[in-house]
Amino acid sequence: MSSCDLYIDQIKQLVTVKGFSQQAARGASQQEIGLIEDGAVAIRQGVIIAAGPKKELERAGWKSGAGRYLNAGGMIALPGFIDPHTHLVFAGSREEEFVARLRGEDYLSILEQGGGILHTVRATRSASAEELFRAGKKWALRLSEMGTTTLEAKSGYGLDFVTELKQLKVIRELNQSLPLELVPTYLGAHAWPEEYQADHPGYLQFIIKRVLPEIARLKLAEFCDVFCEKGVFSRQASKLLLEEASKLGLKPKLHADEINNLEGAELAAEVGAVSADHLVAVSEKGLKAMAAAGVIAVLLPGTSFILQKGHYAPARQMIGAGVPVALASDFNPGSSPVGSMALIVSLAVIKMGLAVEEAITAVTINAAHALDRGERLGSIEPGKQADLILLELDDYRQIPYYFGFNTVKVVIKKGRLIKGG
Ligand code: NIG
Ligand code: FE
Repeated sequence: MSSCDLYIDQIKQLVTVKGFSQQAARGASQQEIGLIEDGAVAIRQGVIIAAGPKKELERAGWKSGAGRYLNAGGMIALPGFIDPHTHLVFAGSREEEFVARLRGEDYLSILEQGGGILHTVRATRSASAEELFRAGKKWALRLSEMGTTTLEAKSGYGLDFVTELKQLKVIRELNQSLPLELVPTYLGAHAWPEEYQADHPGYLQFIIKRVLPEIARLKLAEFCDVFCEKGVFSRQASKLLLEEASKLGLKPKLHADEINNLEGAELAAEVGAVSADHLVAVSEKGLKAMAAAGVIAVLLPGTSFILQKGHYAPARQMIGAGVPVALASDFNPGSSPVGSMALIVSLAVIKMGLAVEEAITAVTINAAHALDRGERLGSIEPGKQADLILLELDDYRQIPYYFGFNTVKVVIKKGRLIKGG
């Protein structure tokens, strides 16, 4: 008899996405989802100890040695969704801007006029840490209801010293108090703050001299991100900030080539970024540089959909160029008020031409790699942390097909049932 804490069987389809713990899946291998029909999983102390065909696990004695038995009743199982790009912690909302954009106003022009991101900055500066915590908790729980078990969360709605640290501390508190893993990213270079509109070099120096060292000292962020975009942070400013952050041990990430091509993809390769995100306006040359440097493309189709630009990131070209593709919600109150990773899968296959299998890899193992957690998270195989979800569907291809439904019935994080069961 083999003992385990939790044994799950009657899994109609077990999507393992196994085999890519060391390196993200790219090219043709992004379609390999490790599908097992009639599967079972055994978990001990928060770790998967066996996963495979039910018959095999039964033969090995996992079922008889289980502390707890869960009958999945014919549902399908996947690794918990990993959302590698969100702006989770903010105050207020921006439906007015949304309606203005529906009437034809432009996202970057709204920002130029002091709205957009700067609207949320004003609200976030005025909010107390308790208010931000309550709002962040509400959103994080909504995401986990829909199957997200790990998510990245950025600062960037404070821009000043006090509010950036307040946001990052709230992210840390959420990480400690919720049954979810939050990965903190410092995004001080999200917009030029109102008080530095006439002194951009001054803001860069303020980040480098004052904010980054304190964040590094308090270990408040694992990554540093910049919004490298026309009218926002130039390629040169982005490079400077990411290099300074790297020296302090913060790993680089970029909002790159989202609306205009500033050679953000090339910059991501140059500074050894873990990921470059958005990439709607990326060039072939940028993709080549990313592939050579092993930078992961994090695509955010929710943003393209909501901003109604009609342009989506060239995902097929990326797969062809050997760039590993991950997907994220970009959940934020402006350009992407969406949190469902299943819906992101729908958009990716309908609007960007990803195969369903490629999109599944993109929200699991490749998303884990985009957070530098591919060795521990993102797949269902022995040795991996037991983060998995059960969906009330007959076939994994129904994930994007039944779009807009939340079919996630059971969520397991580190071996613990946090929803259903
Ligand atoms: O990823 N592009 C820049 N930053 C966010 C939007 C944030 C906002 O509009 O509040 C993004 O799309
Ligand atoms: Fe973003």
